[in-house]
Formats: sequence, structure tokens, C-alpha cells
Amino acid sequence: MTAVPILSVERLGKRFPIGKGQSVHAVNDVSFEIRPGQTVGLVGESGSGKSTIGRTVLRLLEPSAGRIVFDGQDITSLSESGCRALRARMQMVFQDPWSSLNPRHSARRLIEEPLLLHAKLGAAERRARAEALAERVHLDRAMLDRLPSELSGGQLQRICVARAIATDPKLIVLDEPTSSLDLSVRAGILELLAEIRAATGAGMLFITHDLGTLKLISDEVVVLYLGSVMERAPTARIFEAPAHPYTQALISAHLSADPRHRPERIRLEGEIPSPISLPPGCPFASRCHAAIDACRAAKPELRPLPGGGQAACIRIDELNRGAGTRA
Ligand SMILES: Nc1ncnc2c1ncn2[C@@H]1O[C@H](COP(=O)(O)OP(=O)(O)OP(=O)(O)O)[C@@H](O)[C@H]1O
Ligand SMILES: [Mg+2]
Repeated sequence: MTAVPILSVERLGKRFPIGKGQSVHAVNDVSFEIRPGQTVGLVGESGSGKSTIGRTVLRLLEPSAGRIVFDGQDITSLSESGCRALRARMQMVFQDPWSSLNPRHSARRLIEEPLLLHAKLGAAERRARAEALAERVHLDRAMLDRLPSELSGGQLQRICVARAIATDPKLIVLDEPTSSLDLSVRAGILELLAEIRAATGAGMLFITHDLGTLKLISDEVVVLYLGSVMERAPTARIFEAPAHPYTQALISAHLSADPRHRPERIRLEGEIPSPISLPPGCPFASRCHAAIDACRAAKPELRPLPGGGQAACIRIDELNRGAGTRA
């Protein structure tokens, strides 16, 4: 894909000061790009910094380091009023539709809200737009007069998607949008998101701890560990030939849940470092089967992989010798 990125995140850092001169190093030196119509997946264990990246990209949080360029504009240190002006072009969908929607408002009113906020429309036009939006997310018109308590989780998440696309955003950040839903409902929401992406050309940042979901929806995967990128690659490559030892462990955990594969699961042992005092070397070294002294000395930079993508591991070439033929 050669289109100009809609979002460029360059060496992003986010620290949360927690007093006594200490801070949580939640995001360290993270870079990625999203092009129009592309979905980039952020995956990692709990606490790996996924939501912090999403919230910083949306400028709900201020970055501590690095640069964020959205739609050609450097938004790294945008004022609060500048951030407000961004909101219509950057939207979000969260994990829990129950808590992101006002329980006293009808579905119709919930879908009309972003139009009230960002578009100057008359009441009749707004009503017509809300009905068209409901149709685009496949929400039956009969549902529009219901309250959230009278709708299912999947229907509520469709309302959240309708709200997110109401202002024709160029980027949608989705933070675990299907994690709270029943398995049977998840596929329908993923299908809807793919449909919306194709129809609108919006870029998507899809945050999840579930690799299986990314297999279905994302073009590229960014693997995070303790706020740092371990590997970045096209989705097919990540699943066919995971290069970084941490990605290999994640993939093996994902595959071992599938009764058709059941390969030997790579079990991670060892202490996870504290994000308050990260070690000087590779953050994954304490749990990595391949770690040597040099891994603990300096943090590895991302280096290009033969099959596409990049991995942050100084031993990547020797560990993956012959992997090109596997891919
Ligand atoms: N406001 C805050 N103050 C202090 N630390 C924070 C704050 N928000 C997040 N953190 C810390 O930053 C790190 C990253 O958190 P984040 O919520 O981004 O992770 P996550 O990958 O989204 O996890 P999960 O999968 O559980 O949602 C964690 O160590 C977390 O405790
Ligand atoms: Mg999170």
C-alpha cells in the first residue's frame, strides 16, 4: 500500500508520574502508521500499553515523547480547543457499550448525539441521518425507540459504531470492541467493521489481547510487551512465521487453544519487570528462552525481517534461519 498514512506515530512515549520522582513507563518508543482503509492491530498482554497508545493517539492523553501526525497535521502538542476540533475526524469505540451509552436515552437519540455536536442539521435532517446510520450498522428501525436496557450487547455495540461513523471520521480507534460480547455476536460486529472500512476508507486502530480476532480483521499486527514493540508485520506473516520469541509464545498460546493444531505450547517463565523500573536491555529478556548477556545490556532496535515487517531482537537472524522457507 503506498497511500499517504492517515496516522503516523513516531517513537511515542507515555509516562505516568506516580510521585516520589517515579513514573510508570507505559509506552516506550512506539512507532507505526495507518493508511486509509487499513486496519492495524495492537496486541499484547494486560498492561502492555494498548489502551494508553489508543488514548494518546486520540489526544485524550498528552504524549511524553515522540510525535503524532494525523491527516497531515502534527497533533503532538495540540491545545485543548484544537483537540476538540479533531474529535469529529477521529472517533472511538470501547469495550463496554453498556457504560459508554447513557441508559436514559433512546437508540435514536444516542445516534443523533454526535450529529448534534458536530453537524449543523435541522431536526428532520438529523432524524433522517440517524435512520440512515442505523441502517448502515444493520440496526432494525424498530429498535430506534428502545432504551439501552431493552437492547442486546451486540445491538448496543452497533449503536456505538453508528455514533463513531456519524461524522465520517478518517480514523476509528477500537479498544477491545468485541471482548465483552458473546462469541456468536463477535463475528457479526467484525463483519460490520470490515464493511464500514470498505465503504468509508477510514483507517482503524484495533486494540485487543486476542490474536484470533486480529487474524479476522487486521492487515498488520503490532506486538507489544511492557509498552515496547517486539514485532510489527503483515498479519499473514505474523501467523505463518512469527519471528520474535515473544510473538512465537503468543502464537503458540493461540494455536494450542485450537483442537485441530495442539502444538507444543511455549510456556513463559520468569519474572515480568516492573514498568516503574524497566531493565536497560530487552524488556522480554527475563522470560525469553533465547536471551544471552548482550540482550540484558542494551534495548534492541527494530530490525527488518526477510519475510516483511520488523522485530526488536538482536538474535533474530540466527533464531529464524530457514524461516524464509517456512513462510
Ligand atoms: N492513569 C494512570 N496512572 C498510572 N499508571 C497508569 C495509568 N493508566 C495506565 N497506567 C499503567 O500503564 C500501563 C499500561 O496500561 P494500559 O491500560 O495501557 O494497558 P493495556 O494493554 O490496555 O491493558 P489491558 O489489556 O488490561 O486493557 C500499565 O502498567 C498501567 O498500570
Ligand atoms: Mg486496555
